Amino acid sequence: AAIGKGNFRHFMQKEIHEQPAVIGDTLHSYVNLQTRAVTLPEMPLDFAALPRLTISACGTAFYAGFVAKYWFEQIARLPVEVDIASEFRYREAPMPEGGAALFISQSGETIDTLAALRYARSQKQTILSIVNQPESVIGRESDLVLPTLAGPEIGVASTKAFTTQLTVLACLALAAARARGAIDAAAEACLSSAITEVPAAITQVLEHAEPLEAIAHDISAVRDVLFLGRGSLFPIALEGALKLKEISYIHAEGYAAGELKHGPIALIDEDVPVVIAAPSGPLFDKLASNIQETIARGGRAIIFSDRAGLERIGDGAAYTVEMPTIDPFVAPILYSLPMQLLAYYTAVAKGTDVDQPRNLAKSVTVE
Ligand code: G6P
Repeated sequence: AAIGKGNFRHFMQKEIHEQPAVIGDTLHSYVNLQTRAVTLPEMPLDFAALPRLTISACGTAFYAGFVAKYWFEQIARLPVEVDIASEFRYREAPMPEGGAALFISQSGETIDTLAALRYARSQKQTILSIVNQPESVIGRESDLVLPTLAGPEIGVASTKAFTTQLTVLACLALAAARARGAIDAAAEACLSSAITEVPAAITQVLEHAEPLEAIAHDISAVRDVLFLGRGSLFPIALEGALKLKEISYIHAEGYAAGELKHGPIALIDEDVPVVIAAPSGPLFDKLASNIQETIARGGRAIIFSDRAGLERIGDGAAYTVEMPTIDPFVAPILYSLPMQLLAYYTAVAKGTDVDQPRNLAKSVTVE
């Protein structure tokens, strides 16, 4: 049967709203919801002995892999390399004996990701993939497929595929951490239960999305937007910028907040809004000082943080949006939501073709 938009105006909007359900479905297959322990299929590799994991993907899926690098390194103490597939496939990167490579793709058909996979195969790596279409060519050529249960994604700009990719990656990082003896049982229980709290927190964000429409209305009038984040929220800043440019055609750049003073700060004035993903966590104070630097230069800061974070930031921001309080581990999943919604409402305000933005294709199967 043809997939409809239901009560939604666009597929993208519908897919944004499906996220609590599809992340829930994905969790059902990777977490025992009684014990809240991560349970993965049998692995074709031994994480304890793995010298390195190489992650490669394109577009939004690449940013999911970039978030996962932070997770695997911090929680599982596993060295990770992550690269855009179109670069990786030609880099002739040496790959370690006994290594593994992970490919992330909604469609499972992206040509550069497939070529990167075949290169990794030629280098005798164990091949894992996270795909939304297990029958795809990337799925078929993998030693193990970890499916995302996002269901069909029609909007060209990826939303629910991204957050379900992050969900699977978070589970995989926890499984790797356990296998490598990098975390104790109590820490593991705490992190896996944090993952299970994501769908309800997303529902909360969706139920309080109105302020984002007013912010998006402002953004729809500007030429350039900066997105900032630190640590595992840096890739979310990159994703926020990508989402905005894809569907609203506004120039946007994502930056690691610590890099602000090495260039982008020169752009800041009242015409360049700065969107900052600032959940409470170990890097919060560093980020708060980047926010002050932005405000001191007349920048219009649009800050997303939880109650404790917003209290510590104080005045001066153009907008502050309160997010649910959540464990920093899963903050990248939750903070994807305001990025998607900002891009969506901005595109609607500009009247662009949200589901079929100009010049873009849902999957890129020719080089
Ligand atoms: C295209 C789509 C993006 C997507 C990328 C990778 O550029 O427009 O939304 O992130 O391809 O696609 P994949 O199917 O490999 O995830």
